[in-house]
Amino acid sequence: MNPRRIAATATLAVVAVLAPAGTATAQDLGDDPIVIGHRGASGYVPEHTLAAYKLAVKQGADYIEPDLVSTKDGVLVARHENEISGTTDVEERPEFADRKTTKMIDGAPVTGFFTEDFTYKELKKLRAEERLPGVRPQNTRYDGRYKVPTFEQVLRLSEQLSKRYGREIGVYPETKHPTYFDSIGLSLEEPLVASLRKYDLDDADDEVIIQSFETANLVELNKVIDVDLAQLVNNVGAPYDFVAAGDPRTYADLMTPEGMKWIATYADGLGVHKDLVLPRDASGATGEPSPLVKNAHDAGLLVHIWTLRRENQFMATNFRIGSDPNAPGDMYAEAKAFLDAGVDGLFSDNPDIAVRALEDWLAER
Ligand code: G3P
Ligand code: CA
Repeated sequence: MNPRRIAATATLAVVAVLAPAGTATAQDLGDDPIVIGHRGASGYVPEHTLAAYKLAVKQGADYIEPDLVSTKDGVLVARHENEISGTTDVEERPEFADRKTTKMIDGAPVTGFFTEDFTYKELKKLRAEERLPGVRPQNTRYDGRYKVPTFEQVLRLSEQLSKRYGREIGVYPETKHPTYFDSIGLSLEEPLVASLRKYDLDDADDEVIIQSFETANLVELNKVIDVDLAQLVNNVGAPYDFVAAGDPRTYADLMTPEGMKWIATYADGLGVHKDLVLPRDASGATGEPSPLVKNAHDAGLLVHIWTLRRENQFMATNFRIGSDPNAPGDMYAEAKAFLDAGVDGLFSDNPDIAVRALEDWLAER
């Protein structure tokens, strides 16, 4: 455990005398906030590569975040989407040119190359590329260097890094498009649970948090594994499993006190779009926090926000520096504003800045 988690554990040790046994989870309400390396330290190295995860941990992240999709032969790999032309060199590989196709994913047509049309052996031939070369041109120097990692490689890496750094490195996997993968016979949840069991990471107090923008798969996972679960919540739209089932509820409905009470029946926390915690006014600046954090804590749910990115274009106007959308703004101040608003965790592409803000915030508290 890192120093922040050790301090939290010492406090909890006193509480544990009074609390019923077995209540400790990856993070409990009242613990120090955590920093999650969003797709690794993806502000500096192409996302979802072992190099990006390693750098996130070196920069002090408590958790690394692999988004998960499936290959044709059922291997879970770390990619933000199953369509991989934006984050790999697949388009430059003539041997795979005939794999280009158009599919309906979550109700929308998507054209490109899809992980579920490649065996893992084939996918291994590809190399990762920077998703945002116009915004982060410095990261393109790593294009072509790193493979697409499997989920199990990420678990092994977290084990190795935990030993190297002498603190428990958590893993925060996200199931991507679970309804879609169910529909093509490549369900994500079974291999996810099997891998966590294989690495003995299936207990309530293991540093694992599974997240999803859909709800039904989390409800099912809650019945089969004890690790923490986080319901992801966007600032628009509805969970795709609701849409597919004709359920009219939206994410906004889920953020009412009643909605949160329902989420708390299967999940331990929320991973929310940051604008839901610090809404922006007409000028694009943040003001007073919304009641979301208080309502979530009242329901017994942790709140982790996404995503803190250092470039101006990704932050509210009051944190921007200058007018270049790709130049760094004041992400340090932004992170502190969210900590002041009471959040329990920060997903960030720039874990170094988030960790510095968190450590200063804890010292000043
Ligand atoms: O999982 C938290 C955050 O990563 C959700 O957004 O689209 O970056 O996976 P996305
Ligand atoms: Ca994610």
